[in-house]
Amino acid sequence: MGSSRKHSGICPEPDHEQGGCCIHIVECEMNNRGSTGAYLTWEKLGVAVSSSSGSADKNGYKSVLTDATGYAKPGEIVAIMGPSGCGKSTLLDSLAGMYYFKAYMTQEQVLTWTLTVKETVYYSAELQLPKSMPKSEKMERADKTIREMGLQNSMNTRIGGWGIKGLSGGQKRRLSICLELLTHPKLLLLDEPMSGLDSASSYYVMSRIVKLTQQYQMTVVTAIHQPSSQVFGLFNNLCLLSLGKTLYFGPTFAANQFFAVNGFPCPELQSPADHYLMTINTDFDEDTDIGNIPDEVIHVLAEAYKSSEVYMETQREIATLCAKEGELIEGRGGLQASFITQCMVLSARSFKNMYRDLGYYWLRLGIYIALGFALGTLFYEIGFEFDSISVSFMLKC
Ligand SMILES: Nc1ncnc2c1ncn2[C@@H]1O[C@H](COP(=O)(O)OP(=O)(O)OP(=O)(O)O)[C@@H](O)[C@H]1O
Ligand SMILES: [Mg+2]
Repeated sequence: MGSSRKHSGICPEPDHEQGGCCIHIVECEMNNRGSTGAYLTWEKLGVAVSSSSGSADKNGYKSVLTDATGYAKPGEIVAIMGPSGCGKSTLLDSLAGMYYFKAYMTQEQVLTWTLTVKETVYYSAELQLPKSMPKSEKMERADKTIREMGLQNSMNTRIGGWGIKGLSGGQKRRLSICLELLTHPKLLLLDEPMSGLDSASSYYVMSRIVKLTQQYQMTVVTAIHQPSSQVFGLFNNLCLLSLGKTLYFGPTFAANQFFAVNGFPCPELQSPADHYLMTINTDFDEDTDIGNIPDEVIHVLAEAYKSSEVYMETQREIATLCAKEGELIEGRGGLQASFITQCMVLSARSFKNMYRDLGYYWLRLGIYIALGFALGTLFYEIGFEFDSISVSFMLKC
């Protein structure tokens, strides 16, 4: 790729006591093989939101993410794990927001409920894939991606929504992943891609994402709740968050030793992912059976992590990645189709949506006819003289 090297920094939490934070993404050649990949690093990233609660500081801000540090490399998947409300989506939003990512599957799904699976993916393929690509190839890519997510049997099923049953929750998730995978993006952020999926589907979907990640050297960061042991084993690096603090960032296989060394060994026959989440959950203090006060556990692990060899290794890796020569990925992605194609595809999609949505035209038409009829009856056989109007008016009053 290009030889120019640019840096970009953000400071979502400028008053953070740890100093400036930085998110850095470069796209550069990998291993001199000619293909390129995206290297993403984030350092001392903090996010604060305005709050009126007691936990807010003197300026009225509450910290929801503190001092987050980590990296992601091509062909690898980073899993962000932690209890609900620990800051997973906030971290992904921060990584995504600064660079106008288009390959970002958010926790909330945005799908047009009147369209079928096939239509949704086809329209998306026409909009997202480059205009130089022939239409037949775009459709072929769309079909392949649908099959990869195991949605081939629901191709003609409508997504469905409010009051109308269509796809199941898990199928909608897989469809959302489909839309992001269509372009084989260099950098892909996924927020809870497995929610609503059973353990077997989770494994198949995730193993397909792993296959594509390796095949196209994509860099993937995903937030995930409660992965099974098999799914957990597919991740390269693990980022454990609790109360906005990073308790661990490093290789997935080394997390077990980190917990054991710090007094929380994973019991035999227990899934490591379950053990980590049980240990760092602070939401249900009185119900915990670990025997420690959860807030103390968080403090102990956060401090232990900062003085661990894994942390040093992460710092070294970040320094190496930040020193890479490459082109900054900024403002990439988005619609690749020509202006005319965009207009045509969006008009067709919008027309189909309005035509199928009862509330859009048909319900309104019904209301207007009823309204017209009601108003019309007021003046029915009223006569044409001035007196008949005033008599009718008096009668109605
Ligand atoms: N704009 C905001 N205003 C107020 N609070 C916010 C805002 N954004 C995030 N928070 C708070 O920050 C914390 C982290 O939120 P976030 O959505 O990142 O959690 P999460 O780890 O993704 O949770 P879940 O697993 O339930 O999706 C929560 O306590 C949330 O209430
Ligand atoms: Mg979330």
